[in-house]
Amino acid sequence: MNKDRRTIDQLRSQRWYDSPDMRGFAHRQRTQQMGLRREEFMSKPVVGILNTWSDMSPCHAHLRDRAEAVKRAVWAAGGFPVELPAMSLGEVMVKPTTMLYRNFLAMEAEELLRSHPLDGVVLLGGCDKTTPGLLMGAISMDIPAIFCPAGPMLNGKWKGKTLGAGTHTRKYWDELRSGNITQDEWVDLESRMTRSNGTCNTMGTASTMTSIVDAMGLTLPGASSIPAADSGHVRMASACGARIVEMIWENLRPSDILTRDSFLNGARCYMAMGGSTNAAVHLIALARRANVELTLDDLDAVARETPVLANIFPSGEYLMEDFFYAGGLPALLKRIAGHLALDARSISGKTLGEWLEPAECYDDDVIRPLSNPVTPGTALAVLRGNLAPDGAVIKASAANP
Ligand code: FES
Repeated sequence: MNKDRRTIDQLRSQRWYDSPDMRGFAHRQRTQQMGLRREEFMSKPVVGILNTWSDMSPCHAHLRDRAEAVKRAVWAAGGFPVELPAMSLGEVMVKPTTMLYRNFLAMEAEELLRSHPLDGVVLLGGCDKTTPGLLMGAISMDIPAIFCPAGPMLNGKWKGKTLGAGTHTRKYWDELRSGNITQDEWVDLESRMTRSNGTCNTMGTASTMTSIVDAMGLTLPGASSIPAADSGHVRMASACGARIVEMIWENLRPSDILTRDSFLNGARCYMAMGGSTNAAVHLIALARRANVELTLDDLDAVARETPVLANIFPSGEYLMEDFFYAGGLPALLKRIAGHLALDARSISGKTLGEWLEPAECYDDDVIRPLSNPVTPGTALAVLRGNLAPDGAVIKASAANP
C-alpha cells in the first residue's frame, strides 16, 4: 500500500483509551470491569465486529460463531476486538418488508462506528438488506472496513430434485394448490429445502449483493461464494480478523477502494451473475454514499454488454454450492476480465487483476464460457414509461420457475 503505516497514537481509539483525563479513566475502568487486564487492551487498535446475528435471522444463525473466529484472529494480530450487535433483518421473518429497515440499519451502523472508540470494523451479515445497510453506514463513516459475508446455505434436495430457497417455496405452494403434491409432502418440504445456516442458495438479492461487493473489493477475494456450512467459511472469518488489523495500520479505507471503476466492476459482476433486480436500488444507494456517479442508465448499458454466465437459479439450473465448487466468483470474474477494470484496488491489498490471476473454472456448465452464455439476452433491462417515468428494472433472464 502506498500509505505510510500509522503509529498507535495516530489511531482514533487512543483519544478514548490513552487520555489522561477523567474520560480516559472511565474508558479504561469500564473495559477492566469486563475482566480485561490493562495490558490486554492498552496501545492496541480497537476492532469493532458489527454482528447482525439473531434467532429471527436463520441466514445469520452462525454469525455468533464467526464473530469468535474474527476475535481470535484480531487478538493474534495484536488488536483488541469488540463485538457490537446491529439490527438483524431476517428477510422472511420481518413484516411488512425489510426494505423499510435498510436505511435504519445504515444509520445504526454509521452511528455505532462514530460513537464508539473503534479504529476499524468487520461487518458480519449477508441477508438481502443487510449487505447494503451495513456498508452504507461504513462507507459514510469511512474507517477501515471489511465485509464478511454470511455465505449461502447448502443445496436443497428432495426426492431427487434440487431445490432453491424462496424460488421453490412459491413453486411448490402452487403445486399444493393445484393438487400435484399432498399436504404431507408439503410438510416434508419444510425440513428439506433449507438444509443449513446461511443465506438463500439461489441468485436472489443476498448472493447478488455479496457477489457485487466482493467484485468491488470490499470482502476478502472470493469470500462471497463460500458456503456458510463449509469450514472454509470459519477460516475466511478468521482471515478477516487478521486483515482488518493490517488495514488499520495501513489506514486503508472504503474511500481508497471505491471509485467509479470499482462500481462498474460490481455492475458487470451483477449482470454476469444474472442477479436480482433489487440490487440495482442498493448498488446506486452505495454509490451515492461513496459520492460516485452511478445511474440506471449505467446499469442498462452494462447489462447490454455483459452476458449471463452464472448458471444459477432463477436464471439457470444450479445453486450457490455448485457455483462454489465450480470455482466461485473468481472463476466467473476471470471469464469477463476483458470487461473489468483490473487495476481496481481491494481490501486484500491486491488489485482485482492480481487476485483473479490464480482463478480457475472447474465446471463449464455452472460457469459458462463467453461463447456459451446462459441466455442470449441481458440479465436486466431498464424500462421507462407512464408507470415508471424515472425508470424501473426488470429481470430479462429468468428461465426457471
Ligand atoms: Fe435471508 Fe433469503 S431469506 S437471504
